[in-house]
Amino acid sequence: MELKDKIVLISGATGGLGKELVRGMAGYAEKIILLARNKDKVLELIEGYEPGKFDYFLVDLSNRKELLSVCKKIKKRYGRIDILINNAAVGTHKSFLGSSLDDLWYMQEMTLNAHLLLTYELFPLMTDGGKVVNIGSVAEAISLPIMGNYSMAKSALYTFSNVLRMEAKERGMTVLHVTLGPLENENFNANMLSGSKGVSKSKKTSLSYASGKIISAMKKDKSRIIVPWFYSSIICFDFLFRSISDALKVKFFKSR
Ligand SMILES: NC(=O)c1ccc[n+]([C@@H]2O[C@H](COP(=O)([O-])OP(=O)(O)OC[C@H]3O[C@@H](n4cnc5c(N)ncnc54)[C@H](OP(=O)(O)O)[C@@H]3O)[C@@H](O)[C@H]2O)c1
Repeated sequence: MELKDKIVLISGATGGLGKELVRGMAGYAEKIILLARNKDKVLELIEGYEPGKFDYFLVDLSNRKELLSVCKKIKKRYGRIDILINNAAVGTHKSFLGSSLDDLWYMQEMTLNAHLLLTYELFPLMTDGGKVVNIGSVAEAISLPIMGNYSMAKSALYTFSNVLRMEAKERGMTVLHVTLGPLENENFNANMLSGSKGVSKSKKTSLSYASGKIISAMKKDKSRIIVPWFYSSIICFDFLFRSISDALKVKFFKSR
């Protein structure tokens, strides 16, 4: 896909990865529509760019009513969207039973349902050749003991990518699913819903590397990427040797 002259919409635009993607695409895109919840962060991000390059809508993605109202405004203002990047999410470091019901619901609303809603509502604006990009996580494939709620939302997002890919193809559109390993991003830890922050000590990928891989995969019309690549072996190991992998994961997280 040629990214030049495209109208792109991205959620979680002011987060670690969101900002990198916005900066990476600003050179190509005709317009980038940012969904965010903090106006100051938006203004800081777009400062210095040519006027008209960006538009933004402030919204709490966990609030269905607010999100529907924003979609209505977007539809009124834009006749087409070429690329929709479902990027926003929150993490958690709490067990299923140790979480509050509110946290369990908020996770699904924010990390899964918001993306289903945005895609459902904005799909009619997406033209032949359009693309939906869903930002997933290795947690979608490897269920982790203290990130179960996040894993559940992300694995459903992965299934959503697979289902949508087939429906989108009939309309000449493509879907890219991005499976990411841990990123160098303190903001993600700061946004963590519950549980200890910064518990993960695994090797992390830089935001600029991840964003470069995502933009390159969009250009090449790939349907799935795993970043960094070696996580594909870990995912395979987890699938083939489930009980060993479960024991290792529990031991690893108990030692944190
Ligand atoms: N970081 C990692 O280690 C890692 C690993 C694998 C996958 N991922 C995935 O990569 C994607 C980007 O994550 P990231 O690392 O860039 O995280 P991040 O820095 O925490 O960014 C998340 C974004 O979502 C926004 N957000 C959170 N709650 C919101 C709400 N209720 N309403 C509206 N916006 C809300 C945040 O807004 P603010 O800017 O106002 O905080 C932020 O812009 C996510 O899908 C994540 O699951 C991350």
